[in-house]
Amino acid sequence: MNIRPRRNRKNAAIRDMVQESRLGLENLIFPIFLKDGENVKEEIPSLPNIYRWSIDLLLKEIEECLKLGIRVFDIFPAVEEHLKDKTATLSYDPANFYLKAIQKIKETFPEVVLMSDVALDPYSSDGHDGLVRDGKIVNDETLPILAKMSVAQAQAGIDIIGPSDMMDGRVEVIRSALDDAGYSDTSIMSYTAKYASAFYGPFRDALNSAPKSGDKKTYQMNTANKGEALIEAQLDVEEGADMIMVKPALCYLDVIHLLKENFATPVTAYNVSGEYAMVHAAAQKGWIDYNAAMNEMLLSIRRAGADGILTYFAKDFAQSLVD
Ligand code: PBG
Repeated sequence: MNIRPRRNRKNAAIRDMVQESRLGLENLIFPIFLKDGENVKEEIPSLPNIYRWSIDLLLKEIEECLKLGIRVFDIFPAVEEHLKDKTATLSYDPANFYLKAIQKIKETFPEVVLMSDVALDPYSSDGHDGLVRDGKIVNDETLPILAKMSVAQAQAGIDIIGPSDMMDGRVEVIRSALDDAGYSDTSIMSYTAKYASAFYGPFRDALNSAPKSGDKKTYQMNTANKGEALIEAQLDVEEGADMIMVKPALCYLDVIHLLKENFATPVTAYNVSGEYAMVHAAAQKGWIDYNAAMNEMLLSIRRAGADGILTYFAKDFAQSLVD
């Protein structure tokens, strides 16, 4: 045998030298949940070790993460039910605790890169990402709300706008609203290929944001489709997205790969709540090794082609580098 692939695996130094994909803290974005109030650290049963924080305690959590080397965060608001309405009015109200928190975080830690979520669902009494009219999620009437929400977040100091709503044409509308308001430096990471997935359950528990009726299949993508992701990506890139995202990550590694091969725009992937919860559940039963499974999952997402990964594992991964 002239060729013996095992020679390149014979010890750790050689294996490390020829390793094709790498994973570092610079690749990770940590999703965090905000709740109004003070001294709040609320457990989310379906998302072990992830909490709903009030801003005072969240600042301490961010400081701890910064010390571990995490620099990019994606912040989501858990809104009280009585503050929700059909048109998500609170989302662009200057008194919104979420906008105030963005401002506070950026003031306290100017080095933090902060990403937002743009969609109606956390603020919507219907629990949908768009405006609901006669049982339908209406596209074009949703767009101005998304634009107002984005400008309000930019005004508060957000670095990256994350439209997760899957309405058609939203990247263009958001880009031009940001530019008109003087925020041409504010980035857009678009949820480009966001699938109607069963893996968002724990996130919806965290925000109490599940749809009140129906499902999200008229706007989120059919899990069977791949070519359609190319159409979505082409539109988002043409409309001005700085980064394009695939979500969830693990069932869609082929889609991550496809977008990476076809677009020069950086590709990110959202390793979603259900994917994180599964690993915890199995590890709690002693069925898998938590750290090994975490590393394998994150590395597989990098191998598929993702530049950045949004993941609830971010802090545990950072901690594993220190231990
Ligand atoms: C809201 C949004 C969702 C997630 C991110 N933004 C849920 C949904 O679309 O229902 C899911 C994230 C996760 O599961 O970790 N538009």
